[in-house]
Amino acid sequence: MNENCIWVIDFGSQYTQLITKKTRKLGYKSLIVTAQDALDAIKKGVKPLAIVLSGGPRSVSYEDTDMSPLFLQDSLPILGICYGFQIMTKFFSGQIQKGQSGEYGSTQIQKTDSKHLKDFPENFSVWMSHFDVLTEAPKDFDIILKSKNGLVAGVQHKKKPILGLQFHPEVSHSEYGLEILEYFFKKISGIQKNWLGSNISEDCLKSLATINDSYILCAFSGGVDSLVAATLTHKVAAKRLFCFFVDNGLLREQDYAHIKTLKDKSGLQIITIDAKKIFLDNLKNIEDPEKKRKVIGHTFIDVFEKTVRDFQKDHGFKFEYLLQGTLYPDVIESSSDKKAKNSHTIKSHHNVGGLPDTMNLKLLEPLRELYKDEVREIAKELKLPHDWSHRHPFPGPGLAVRIMGAVDEKKLDVLRRSDQILFEEMKRSHVYDTVWQAFTVYLPVKTVGIKGDKRAYEDTICLRIVDSSDGMTAKWSDLPREFLENTSSRITNELDDITRVVYDITTKPPGTIEWE
Ligand code: XMP
Repeated sequence: MNENCIWVIDFGSQYTQLITKKTRKLGYKSLIVTAQDALDAIKKGVKPLAIVLSGGPRSVSYEDTDMSPLFLQDSLPILGICYGFQIMTKFFSGQIQKGQSGEYGSTQIQKTDSKHLKDFPENFSVWMSHFDVLTEAPKDFDIILKSKNGLVAGVQHKKKPILGLQFHPEVSHSEYGLEILEYFFKKISGIQKNWLGSNISEDCLKSLATINDSYILCAFSGGVDSLVAATLTHKVAAKRLFCFFVDNGLLREQDYAHIKTLKDKSGLQIITIDAKKIFLDNLKNIEDPEKKRKVIGHTFIDVFEKTVRDFQKDHGFKFEYLLQGTLYPDVIESSSDKKAKNSHTIKSHHNVGGLPDTMNLKLLEPLRELYKDEVREIAKELKLPHDWSHRHPFPGPGLAVRIMGAVDEKKLDVLRRSDQILFEEMKRSHVYDTVWQAFTVYLPVKTVGIKGDKRAYEDTICLRIVDSSDGMTAKWSDLPREFLENTSSRITNELDDITRVVYDITTKPPGTIEWE
């Protein structure tokens, strides 16, 4: 355990990695650790510069995590966030109770005195996600922030360097989130900056140093992640890198055009596997979202494994490594928190977890520690065209998780055409680059309409367009009325099977970005 850094204790929050990302951004080195590892180290006398207790899905009303050795330290700076705030205030004899309805999403908070948080405005908006509430603050603490609902949103210890926040300062939708973290690290903890932030792409290249003369196989989607991972690896492996692109029949029109451009212009060896039929056959009549994801994941593995086996036989060599463009958010959301086993799996991502051991491949994941915006930075360093590196994210299971209920060719065709209309209108109105993601969702919900003076009774298309900086939290995009009108009227006019277009105004949380 490293002493010269901040330990972020992971209680299984979806946002733990964001805390380390933000500390990095502020210039402080940080490491994610489990509660047990931190307690063991503290008992042995090993101490970090400061500790951050993350949020988590558990309730302190039912379970206790005994963190007392940590709280009994004299001068150890501690920041408790959400669940971390609650276990901390509970230890110091605060009262925590189950709330009536909790607080989720954007919430206004206000300062309670002028002594603390001097450089902050009176009111600002932060991101909440909690059910339990602190009903009585511990007596050694000042209440420094309250929410508009009158609930305690922040406390500071009267003597020790300890701060507690009920909200999530680490998510980008919290106003002054970064400044509050800085307030803790600089003003309360007084620790020195020790993370200068190196050249990220060089770090990634270093992680590829072991590959020597081996052949490398890349599961290539054409998205910025696998493109950057492959372009970096191409620098080291050149013609020993083979990028396999699986056409699962669940792709958009824009994906086919993009892959063609990459084949012509990227310099990478891209091989397309046409597996449309097998994916659609396997998905027949499957309605459950998790089942769809699992079927697609397994089919992908089967198709990939067989193609690679045949390819190796034909070419007379064996691949030693599998290159994947896995990012931090993929790792957290899929893993149920490998070590602490505290977080809940929200959706299974088939691009993590990888291929069966029988393939005997070592995993190369040069972007595993990074977020999308950092990957786009590397793309810029690598001089990849803006249009290639700023494509919206597209999920591995593709259009299958954008059709509610069973997937079939007809629905895929309608969804694909509506998505292409949205894509064209986004580009034409210059709004494509202003949002995180924009797509259409097929709802097999029939509504009555009038088409060509005749009664129509057809399905619904939903537009899902969100602003986000990392996909972990999101707000629906407030786009010009004219753009929405054009898109809606083109979809209803050009698609006979659609009588209604709706706009999704759900934030994440509680909604996710994709519908399934
Ligand atoms: P959710 O729906 O979980 O999505 O809010 C967050 C971001 O992740 C993308 N997403 C996926 N990406 N494989 C991926 O590579 C997947 O299985 C997957 N599911 C969701 C989603 O499009 C959004 O950008």
